[in-house]
Amino acid sequence: MPVWLAGLGAMAGIGAALGGYALFYEPFRVRAERLVMRLLRDRAGLPSEGLRILHLSDTHFRGADRREHAKIAQVRRVTADANIDLLIHTGDFLHNDNGLENVLTLMDSLPKPRLGCFAVSGNHDHVVYGMKWALHYTWRRFKDQEAGNGARSAPELACSRRARFCYFLRFAHYALNKLDGEPRGVNDIVRLRHELERRGMQFLNNQAVRLEGTGAYLVGIEDLLKGQPDLNGGLQSVPQDAPTILLSHNPDILEMAATSRADLVLAGHTHGGQIVLPLLGPVCTQTEQISRSEASGYWRRDDTHVYIHRGLGESFPMRFGAPPHVTFLTLLPARHMPN
Ligand SMILES: [Fe+2]
Repeated sequence: MPVWLAGLGAMAGIGAALGGYALFYEPFRVRAERLVMRLLRDRAGLPSEGLRILHLSDTHFRGADRREHAKIAQVRRVTADANIDLLIHTGDFLHNDNGLENVLTLMDSLPKPRLGCFAVSGNHDHVVYGMKWALHYTWRRFKDQEAGNGARSAPELACSRRARFCYFLRFAHYALNKLDGEPRGVNDIVRLRHELERRGMQFLNNQAVRLEGTGAYLVGIEDLLKGQPDLNGGLQSVPQDAPTILLSHNPDILEMAATSRADLVLAGHTHGGQIVLPLLGPVCTQTEQISRSEASGYWRRDDTHVYIHRGLGESFPMRFGAPPHVTFLTLLPARHMPN
């Protein structure tokens, strides 16, 4: 056999193996991540043992029972017998309405928290996106944006190879951050909320709640893309010096100055890129404001802890280098802080 043919066969084999891994293995490797953090400011009101939070996000259920039941079983395995104060979901429960039954099954199988279940909705809870022509749709949006910025279109740049190259480079950068499907319909978010509220989950729509028996506040903001977000309105009833946890589906909220009032921001939306390639990093983060290196996991911005969840589900059914997870966070009072 010629060497080139053997090489081609080996490459095809490796490609098939990686594709199989991304389709059928990694999406089901649900892991539990654990983080302990202390308030970075002296704020009274947290119990001395802290708040134990179970954070979920981006389940994206669509009624694909075999895959979703397998995932629910994995979540049940990693959360069994957990002792938690708060259960938080930062949106994109659904990919479409067919996933509602499995969302409810998942929520029913989670441990019951001491202080309550809270959520914000994500863009997919509002809208059904068609992913088949996502690249084409993204290309149209990019061209509109470029035209709005006064840039010449690709055909007009045909005479300049360098200008055309730069134009497509800008498109590649744009698509890596904002590749999303074309809106094709709406999900029944009223029914989703109603069913989850019947199970004791409270949606925070630009609202704050004081956590029972503590001086800490939980604030939830509506989705930046499909809701009517009002960060200042959400924070209005929160005392300036109270320990504050802010929930937002989309982490781009961090570009709003008032987020600095929060001690901890919990978000999702990015799926951690879903496909993370060596050298390139996350393939597509869906964020416009935060950097690609901040698209998942824990980081800090001044006195605010930030945690961006990679999600449990997928917008397209593949994961590579960004396994699904649930996260157990413990938020403790600042050091030397009397309660
Ligand atoms: Fe999502």
